[in-house]
Amino acid sequence: MTPSETPAMAPPLLEVRDLTVRYPSRGRRTPPVLAVDRVSFTLPAGETLALVGESGSGKSSIAAAVLMLRRPESGSVRFEGRELTGLGEKAMRPLRPALQPVFQDPYGSLSPRRRVYDAIAEPLRVQGRWDPVAGPARVGELLDLVRLDASLARRRPYELSGGQCQRVGIARALAGGPRLLVLDEPVSALDPSVRAGIVNLLADLRDELGLGQLFIGHDLALVRHVAHQVAVLRHGRIVETGPVHQVWDAPAHAYTRELLAAVPDLGAV
Ligand SMILES: Nc1ncnc2c1ncn2[C@@H]1O[C@H](COP(=O)(O)OP(=O)(O)O)[C@@H](O)[C@H]1O
Ligand SMILES: [Mg+2]
Repeated sequence: MTPSETPAMAPPLLEVRDLTVRYPSRGRRTPPVLAVDRVSFTLPAGETLALVGESGSGKSSIAAAVLMLRRPESGSVRFEGRELTGLGEKAMRPLRPALQPVFQDPYGSLSPRRRVYDAIAEPLRVQGRWDPVAGPARVGELLDLVRLDASLARRRPYELSGGQCQRVGIARALAGGPRLLVLDEPVSALDPSVRAGIVNLLADLRDELGLGQLFIGHDLALVRHVAHQVAVLRHGRIVETGPVHQVWDAPAHAYTRELLAAVPDLGAV
């Protein structure tokens, strides 16, 4: 390795600086909304950064801006050192497989009539990477990665549990070999009894595949066992950030203490 290739020199996986998202006014009765107000954070490769905060604090707006699904008003989003904010949809396209979202509603993100097999094959087809021999094997591999039995490949979403559906959603996100997953409340819509299984799966995948994860949730209890860093968001601003155990053990901000008091523990995650 030459000095320029040493990991210390590599840019972070994701670097967000002074990100600001504002929704324009929709007529005289609705003023513009400053949803994200100069938010900065850094996510190293292979780590999990949790963004927590109550509903309306700006979490999904940050997710959408990082994924360039919504152009931020100002600020910078660098992915592996590359500035994304100026890129048009066409320039973003080749980057999309590397930077994948997983959303909250496991049924809503799957097409109701499509079998699991085709749902997982779809991103490979769309990315022009479908091969008649390697494709089916890759679908099998992806089912395996999300710990779903191969027999589920023939099922349709309504024949799956919410947790199984979310695993299919994760398999779809993994299809193109991403380096960053943006997980917007990936377990909030699920039965509490299956949440820990999905959260643990995501942590295993992170470690097995070296994935970076931006994990959005509304409670700290859910992420404290799996996140490295946490940023606490309120009214579009980060009020507290640090290693998750530090924020958990000694929250500096009254709002963080409120968040901690409001949520039940997940138990042995
Ligand atoms: N498309 C939109 N148009 C106008 N305001 C929006 C839109 N999406 C979100 N907001 C507002 O932006 C703020 C942050 O919302 P959001 O990012 O969805 O927060 P969270 O994901 O933490 O619940 C809220 O005040 C919300 O009402
Ligand atoms: Mg949200």
